Amino acid sequence: MKVLVIGSGGREHAIVWKLAQSRSVDKIYCCPGNAGIAGMAECIDVKQDDFAALLDFVKYEWIDLTIVGPEDPLSKGIVDLFEKEGRRILGPTKAAAQLESSKVFSKDLMRANGIPTADYKVFTSYLHAEEYIKMKGTPIVIKADGLAAGKGVFIASTTEEAIDALRIIMKDRAFGDAGNKVLIEDCLQGEEASFMVFTDGKTIVPMVSSQDHKRIFDNDRGLNTGGMGAYSPAPVVTEAMEHTVIEKVMKPTIRALKAEGITYKGILYAGLMIDKKGTPYVLEYNCRLGDPETQPVLSRLETDLTEIAIAIAEERLDQVQVRWKKDPAVCVVISSEGYPGAYRKGDVITGVEEAETLEGVKVFHAGTAFQDDKIVTSGGRVLGVTATGSDIADARRKAYEAIEKIHFRGMHFRKDIASRALDRCCNH
Ligand code: AMP
Ligand code: GLY
Repeated sequence: MKVLVIGSGGREHAIVWKLAQSRSVDKIYCCPGNAGIAGMAECIDVKQDDFAALLDFVKYEWIDLTIVGPEDPLSKGIVDLFEKEGRRILGPTKAAAQLESSKVFSKDLMRANGIPTADYKVFTSYLHAEEYIKMKGTPIVIKADGLAAGKGVFIASTTEEAIDALRIIMKDRAFGDAGNKVLIEDCLQGEEASFMVFTDGKTIVPMVSSQDHKRIFDNDRGLNTGGMGAYSPAPVVTEAMEHTVIEKVMKPTIRALKAEGITYKGILYAGLMIDKKGTPYVLEYNCRLGDPETQPVLSRLETDLTEIAIAIAEERLDQVQVRWKKDPAVCVVISSEGYPGAYRKGDVITGVEEAETLEGVKVFHAGTAFQDDKIVTSGGRVLGVTATGSDIADARRKAYEAIEKIHFRGMHFRKDIASRALDRCCNH
């Protein structure tokens, strides 16, 4: 079978790596890929948003399955086009992907269906929003409605900060049309977890749980990033919690979409805040795999990913037994100097091969490229050093041992990935 993967991050490298282990996969293509992916797949020079060109490629090369990594092509309707042309593709349609591409759509759906989420109000007028902030007080959360690459969310602890966020979204229009509407939400307290499922719109199969680390610095300080590391499982997601999330979040979400005539197929991700009482509140939905959660989660997947993807596309997920490895996994992201702001590029990376000689270690590439036959940095998040171990402490130790072998100028990584899990399990 031939498979095309769309995307260029650590998540896509993990997908390609998993596909490369499948006995039914003969050839993998990736658009556009990165330096690590290039070692396992043929990277193709087609624009990620040129759906017509991608479709031509899929027809010409007789590709059997396309897997979409990032949200952008999904929210622009790549699945709708491919399905219309009878091509197998993993991901939700444009209408279903609104769960991620419009926060107002997803919050309204949650409210109408009793899915636990922070109380909120939607504004199109700057003045009304400002008035509301002053009336509500702080802490408060300000969010742009549309896609903003994870940067459109502001947690304000003072009224000034909240109004500043409003100005950035609505007046400076830092996120363009994504800021036409703004959401103002109550600020929730608790522990965050990422909960991802496979679904064909009828059957829901949970993945192993995970947790990522959004802030750039240790102890959750500094700016939000795409994610600086992740581990799986997340001890906060107990078996009982998994049951609650499926019953109170996943099933009602998919049912609510069905009632609007939308079948959700692909991966559904709920970013949760679990409060002291154990209620899981939905902070956001994503219509795709998380990055970097995918790196530890797919490291633990035993079942052939193509088997799952094809069953989803053909709406017979109930026929697949999805199996996971017991061993936990930890991924530590190494980023470029300056990230998540303006960052350095073009620095030579050394030591990746040596790091991978350590047992249980895999280094997933994200922002990397080839330059004069050398691998250099080309993005904010550069590598995801991922290790599996007998327990979280073991996996974590291996990941940090592997990092010691890797070098590039200005490299940055958090030293406390998975420490919260260790505090909980006391298994270190
Ligand atoms: P989102 O993109 O909506 O998931 O928001 C990004 C991050 O902002 C989340 O992972 C949380 O850390 C934080 N966040 C979002 N909404 C809230 C909320 N209502 N209360 C507290 N923190 C939030
Ligand atoms: N790591 C969070 C995300 O993928 O959105």
